[in-house]
Amino acid sequence: MTTTPEGVSLGMPQLPAPAYPDDVRARLEADAREIIARYPDSRSALLPLLHLVQSEEGHVTRTGQQFCANMLGLTTAEVAAVATFYSMYRRKPSGDYQVGVCTNTLCAVMGGDAIFAALQDHLGVGNGETTDDGKVTLEHIECNAACDFAPVVMVNWEFFDNQTVDSAKRLVDDLREGAQVEPTRGAPLCTFKDTARILAGFPDEREGAVEAGGSAGPASLIGLRLAKGETQPARVVHPRGEDPQNERPSGPAAEEGE
Ligand code: FES
Repeated sequence: MTTTPEGVSLGMPQLPAPAYPDDVRARLEADAREIIARYPDSRSALLPLLHLVQSEEGHVTRTGQQFCANMLGLTTAEVAAVATFYSMYRRKPSGDYQVGVCTNTLCAVMGGDAIFAALQDHLGVGNGETTDDGKVTLEHIECNAACDFAPVVMVNWEFFDNQTVDSAKRLVDDLREGAQVEPTRGAPLCTFKDTARILAGFPDEREGAVEAGGSAGPASLIGLRLAKGETQPARVVHPRGEDPQNERPSGPAAEEGE
């Protein structure tokens, strides 16, 4: 930071923050150096470094922001601007399991709004709040491009597809009881802190985790085939309640045939 000859700082003020204990700082510095070395410009490492400090404390603290700023030669104001922009960084202590209910349009109309309301009642918490046992943080999330499996719930960013009010309640009960739960696809679930470390760019070393990629399922694969230029046979969609057997053809082709 630049200072005048009298020692007065000309740089941005830094947030007051307690230092990490020496052993924690040494460990995080070694991890941070490994991450920074992956980028031609060290500033590009800010996003993974924020995940790294989040993996230490479960959210991005002032100490974590100060650490990132020191490692990258940034001000804490610059770090805070990034940390507060992205919703994947938490700014207050959170639960072991972040349960995100997609309430964007498609999931909302398919039951996401009802699931979110039911989980608020069931858990006794509001949006962004954590259960007293520290296990579950409930929140609205935006579309995660899994609309063909609506309504979608994500736990620590792993997919739980085609949820209902009952299945979502069972899911949070199992999480709170420590029961094993299996995402619909992707790697087995781990805690929010462990997820943050993986997002920082460190390998998931649990046995079988990488192989457990799963599949996006048949609906998404139709989209993939279409994207590759393959065509689907035309399909008539019947309005609800109408009996397809009794439907009269309509449109120009039908009129030509009449
Ligand atoms: S609207 Fe929920 S995943 Fe797209």
